[in-house]
Amino acid sequence: MQVLGVIGHPIDHSLSPQMHNAAFQAVGRDALYVPLLVQPDAVQTALAGAKALGFFGLNVTVPHKQAVIPFMDHLTAEAQAVGSVNTIRFENGRMYGHSTDGPGFRAALEQKLITDIADCSFLILGAGGAARAIAAELGRCGAHITIANRTAGKAKDLAYEFAHSEARGMGLDPHELSRAMAAVDVVVNTTTVGMHASRGESPIPRDLLRPDLRVVDIIYNPQETQLLVDAASLGCPVLNGIGMLVWQAAKSWEFWWGVSPPTEVMEAAVRSALSSME
Ligand code: ATR
Repeated sequence: MQVLGVIGHPIDHSLSPQMHNAAFQAVGRDALYVPLLVQPDAVQTALAGAKALGFFGLNVTVPHKQAVIPFMDHLTAEAQAVGSVNTIRFENGRMYGHSTDGPGFRAALEQKLITDIADCSFLILGAGGAARAIAAELGRCGAHITIANRTAGKAKDLAYEFAHSEARGMGLDPHELSRAMAAVDVVVNTTTVGMHASRGESPIPRDLLRPDLRVVDIIYNPQETQLLVDAASLGCPVLNGIGMLVWQAAKSWEFWWGVSPPTEVMEAAVRSALSSME
């Protein structure tokens, strides 16, 4: 049996064990995926332990995605581009680090909402780790990107670092945003606004939205954030974070085994886990 897991702190909330184990069962893969609580000062020891125990692979979640990097023997181009690792493969005593966050986001978008990413103009709300992975991927596709963040300086730094020369960063002030919004096709929320603690809040006012805008929120709990409720009420095509969650996991399978999992099984496992939490 192959053993895999996800390291993070906290880890109880992770839906990855349900997703992967459901997919293993569906395709008859002899593997087990476990949640592993790892303290921030124990990352190196945990990696060495997983290697010694013969783990086949790991996922890495908050707050360890940057911390694991110095211990990798090899980093993929995607991991290097975003400076974070969410997937590790152990092979011949070596650790290979990869990031599937950006590719997972792109795959979800292409599956469910947008086929012409390169021709679209995106407004990314937020400038944290998730925005970083998404900006890197959209930039790689050649999309036009504007990044808006509560701390405007972080948006400007990220825009400068990842997107092509036309990209720019700005604050979340509605007056500043309204002009930028008029020129974009897709809005992507990567901020934490709208998650459980701030349920009912949206990172942008409803009156900045318009029906021809496509609106993505990478939050999946709740499945319908206030931003998506507002957008859907205007008739905007919308997408929540379940697709990105599933597809980053699917891209991990590709990195571990070179095969694609049954994503519909993973998605059903996520939906069932989320509904039992509500
Ligand atoms: P992740 O790794 O999931 O992207 P993160 O790195 O903690 O998470 O980033 C959280 C993002 O949500 C940041 O862009 C943060 O803005 P700041 O850079 O100004 O901190 C944004 N965010 C969090 N709370 C917010 C709020 N109440 N209003 C607006 N933006 C918020």
